[in-house]
Amino acid sequence: MSDASQPRVLALESSCDETAAAVVAGSTILSSVVSSQIEVHQPFGGVVPELASREHLAQVVPVVEAALERASISWVGELDAVAVTEGPGLVGALLVGVQVARGLASAAGLPVFGVHHLEGHVFSAGLGDDERPARALEPHVALVVSGGHTELVAVRGLGRYEILGATRDDAAGEAYDKVSKALGLGYPGGPVIDRFAAGGDPAAHAFPRAMLDGGLEFSFSGLKTAILVHLERQGEPDTRQGLADLCASFQAAVVDVLVSKACLALRRTAADRLHAVGGVAANRGLRAALAETARREMFTFEVPPLRYCGDNAAMIGAAAAARIAAGYSAGVEVHASRTLEESKVLRL
Ligand code: KG4
Ligand code: ZN
Repeated sequence: MSDASQPRVLALESSCDETAAAVVAGSTILSSVVSSQIEVHQPFGGVVPELASREHLAQVVPVVEAALERASISWVGELDAVAVTEGPGLVGALLVGVQVARGLASAAGLPVFGVHHLEGHVFSAGLGDDERPARALEPHVALVVSGGHTELVAVRGLGRYEILGATRDDAAGEAYDKVSKALGLGYPGGPVIDRFAAGGDPAAHAFPRAMLDGGLEFSFSGLKTAILVHLERQGEPDTRQGLADLCASFQAAVVDVLVSKACLALRRTAADRLHAVGGVAANRGLRAALAETARREMFTFEVPPLRYCGDNAAMIGAAAAARIAAGYSAGVEVHASRTLEESKVLRL
């Protein structure tokens, strides 16, 4: 066994449309490999579950081999444990990662740790440089914004998570993807809308900011409908500037709501630290708005480096390493939709 506080872990992530593997020592990343399936799903405008499983099967072995090789590990048995995302996600996709993790661990006589995908995202705020590792578990509010989730989570320590509010319908990333599809900009929508928004006027159109009523729940489906109605009435924008203005106005509505609710969650929990994690935390408009608000309202704000905002296995490995160091026992329970709160009580 290596340094008990820095267990060396091979981690796999296959919950959606990224096949990823990483080797970590604690929260230090020794390698991180991500194979994206974006091109496979692009013609369909969203993730097709059967295609995702098939693609994970094709990619998982080369991705694991590359992660081991880049970390200079010649045999899994040199490590302390294997970790894998056990849910939530597409069950067929999760099973690919889980079965490979189980197979490798059993061949090498290692334990396998199942990790909740959102606990992984929470740990992503501690990845990337030597200064960050301790920060992921400092008490904070995590704004988890991805294609499948929009949640405010009070993180009080390892395994101590309280969901303060979540979306009632679409996730923020899902809204980006649906609006992008309606605008003919393809999948995934976040990066392309983010790019157009940078050159547009956020005040060009007044789109709704839903549920700014003092609660911590979100709703993005009304905003998506407002864009669809706008397109029906006014037609598709016929200039590049018109498209940029529409993207900027949509993004401003999303960002306003996320910033306002994140601030409310900080006040409610008396926390002075906010982490934004998940694919949408890569958004330039959101990062800038949160950083500016943090300066004004004097709270500490962290986002992962861009490459660790989207799905990756390094965050899964870091979460597992923390659990191992804290004495959690091993085990995997595949699930499609268990919440972070439900997973916190498992296996301590
Ligand atoms: O965390 P992630 O990789 O996968 C899930 O767990 O869902 O998040 C993917 C989501 C997609 O909806 C994608 O459109 C969105 O993150 N996304 C962005 C940006 N980059 C990715 N949304 C807004 N701005 C971006 N720059
Ligand atoms: Zn994710």
